[in-house]
Formats: sequence, structure tokens, C-alpha cells
Amino acid sequence: MTIEVLSEKKREDGEFAHLLEDAELSLNDNLVPLWLLADPRVFDLENQKLWSRVWSFLAHESEIPQPGDYVVRNIGTYDSVILIRDEEGTVHALSNICAHRGMRICRADLGNTSHFRCPYHGWTYSSEGKLIGIPYRTVAYADEPILEKYSEGLKRIRIDTYNGFIFGSLDGDIEPLSSFLGDFRWYLDLVSKRTPEGLIFYPPLRHVSNFNWKIAAENFACDSYHVKTTHRWAISTQTISDKPFGGVQVAINGHAINCNITEGNPRTPIRYPEFWPQLTELSEKNLAPGQFTVLKKTMTLFGNVFPNLSFINTSQGNVPFLTFRTWKPIAPDKTEFCTWFAVEKEAPEDFKKKSYAYYIQQHGIAGAFEVDDVEIWKYITANSRSNEARKVKLNCDVGFHTRSKVADWPGPGKVAGHPNEMAAVEFWKKVLEHLRN
Ligand code: FES
Ligand SMILES: [Fe+2]
Repeated sequence: MTIEVLSEKKREDGEFAHLLEDAELSLNDNLVPLWLLADPRVFDLENQKLWSRVWSFLAHESEIPQPGDYVVRNIGTYDSVILIRDEEGTVHALSNICAHRGMRICRADLGNTSHFRCPYHGWTYSSEGKLIGIPYRTVAYADEPILEKYSEGLKRIRIDTYNGFIFGSLDGDIEPLSSFLGDFRWYLDLVSKRTPEGLIFYPPLRHVSNFNWKIAAENFACDSYHVKTTHRWAISTQTISDKPFGGVQVAINGHAINCNITEGNPRTPIRYPEFWPQLTELSEKNLAPGQFTVLKKTMTLFGNVFPNLSFINTSQGNVPFLTFRTWKPIAPDKTEFCTWFAVEKEAPEDFKKKSYAYYIQQHGIAGAFEVDDVEIWKYITANSRSNEARKVKLNCDVGFHTRSKVADWPGPGKVAGHPNEMAAVEFWKKVLEHLRN
């Protein structure tokens, strides 16, 4: 690079740093610059500074129950990770990069295997990622102890689990998962620890659409305000209630959960009387009293584990269901979403079938709610690429002026009444904290 090009780049970097600083300041007024959503420079910075430094959800243990079972998942846009259970039952997370010349070792989404053979030159790795075979070894390397030299095999990715959820991180020095989740574990328990045996995850559905991952994560972090408009059909068909907004939003360190509360509702996330009457008793034993109290009066739970694991559990509609999803960034304006149906192991088989069918209908990739939301997210993302986007700031003021108080809330975190966009501001603060440090 010439000196002129270098100094031009330095000037542009300085301008961009200033824009990010301005974005962070605007959060003090509950405003988010629209350009921040799908700007290619933000996308690059997220790959450098966000995805490389967080715990990302990879899989649930129930997806790989047998020795040799594996799934292939991503951290951020580019890092492909193989999660495999070895013969002894230990789960390993292996970087999907061949130690020889960088080929992707495994291109399947899931399966069962005793080893992985690279499709390029055939280097072969055990289920623990150790290099165990090199074709034509003496022809290629003579007496060179090549197996010993590459004995480490595939690089290991750090993993940790909570309630069967396996998270991975590219950062060897990252804080433990327990402190990354912190007090949010209290809320994650509400959807994953209601029974002694916990959840099973069904194989996920995947779909790619033209929106930025942050608008989806932020929607799950906070947005009950849109439901009565975007999903108006659901009120017309009495799938959901038209009662006034009621509930509690909680934000903890970028993570968020929303408990939509309707007192006197016959169904709650721990009470499906017509499908599974024993659930209430199991939950009361398995949860702390405060958690049980919250679930007793909640109708719908939804939220987002920072950065990109969202969930919704609703007992509205015909059959209750629980779903988790990740938003994998593919491009500034393109996201692959991976959506899982989950249910407690102890649930009756008949309920599992009905619940799965209802999930597909409502929140599968062509689910009635899902397509409504994606349509909105696509147009916001497209607008964020416009020239006019520089002048627009997203308003996150809902709930700020009403200052509704939440009394006697038994859980931790920053709490606000519904509807509210406090958790959106907290989400964006966390994003900017990563981008600016
Ligand atoms: S790149 Fe994998 S064996 Fe050569
Ligand atoms: Fe929605």
C-alpha cells in the first residue's frame, strides 16, 4: 500500500470508530442507528470481535445421545465445528479444518461415525480428533514421522454445558459459561429444568432469509409490542388473546426473557391439564419456589440468550409448544436460522406428537408466526442498507415513559413491565461493547 492509501484507510477507520462511539452514546436516549444493523463493516467487526469472544450455543446433548453421534454447527459466520460423542461418552468439539491443507473434514449436518476421512487427500481422524491415518505415507513422506508431528490432529474448541445445552467458544481465555450466563440461568431453568430428565431436542429445520441476525435476536429479546399488529390474524382466529399487554421483561448482561402473564389462565408452561396433568407436580419438585411461582402465572415465555439463541414457549393456541432457534449470520443482510422443537423427556408420546405438529404450523420455517416476522425483518434490513439509513435512529422507547413498576418479582435481573424495549437497549449495549473493545 502506498502512503496515500494507508492514510486514507486510517482516516476511514477513524471515522468508523467515531460512528460506533456515536451509536453507543445514542443508546443513552434509547436510540439505535439503523445503519448499524446491516453495514458490511459492522458485519466484519462482529466476526473479529463478537463471535470470537462469546459462548455460542452449538447443540443440545440429546441430539447426540450415542457413541459416534455427531452434528456440525457454526460459531458466527465462518467457524464450522464438529460436535461428536466418543466411545466413552465424552463430547468433543473439533474445528472442521483438516490439519493438512485446510479442507473441511465433514460436510454432512449430522450422522454417526467412528472416524472422519478428509475428502482431499484422505488424512483420517478419530472421533476424538486425533490424526490416525495418512494414505501413501511412505511414498509422500518417506521416513518423516508425520503422524507424530501432527498428532494433535484437529484443533479442539472449548465447550461447556448448562442443563444439557452445549455452548462453544473460540476464545481460550473466555470466562466460564456459568458466569457468562450468570443470573440468567435462573430464567433458562424456566424452559429447560421443569422435570428431572430435562429436554429432548428434535432434529432442527434450517432456512436462509434476507435479514440481519440482530433484528431477529432483538425481537426475541423484547418485542411483545408487535404481536397484536404483525400477527393480527392470530387474534382474529382466537389463536392468541387480545387482552391488554401484561407481563414482565428481564434483562441480564445482554440476555433477556419475557414472561407474558395472564392471571387465571388455565394453561401455563407448567400446566397443560388436558395433555399432561403430571407436569405441575414434577415442576414444583424440580424448580425453586420463586421459579415455580413465576411459571404458575405465565402464559408465554420468550427471550434471547446473548448473542443468538432465541426461544419461545407458549401455552396459547391449541397445543403448547417450546422452540429454540439460532440466527447464523451469513452476510450483512442474510441469516440462516436453525429452529428446534424441544419437549420434556417425560412428556406423554401423544402430547409430543401434537405439540410438534403445532410448532411446525406456528413456528416452523413456514410457520404462520414465523413468516410474518421474517417479512418485517427483511424490509428493516433492506432499509438499513439505504443511504437514508444514516439519518434514521430506531426508537426503543416503548415502556420507558410509562415506567410501570413490577412488584414482588422473585427473580434476579433488571426488571420492567410489558410492553417494553428496555431489553433491546441492553442487547445493543452488549453488541457495541464487543465492537468497541
Ligand atoms: S487437505 Fe485434508 S488430507 Fe489434504
Ligand atoms: Fe413475532
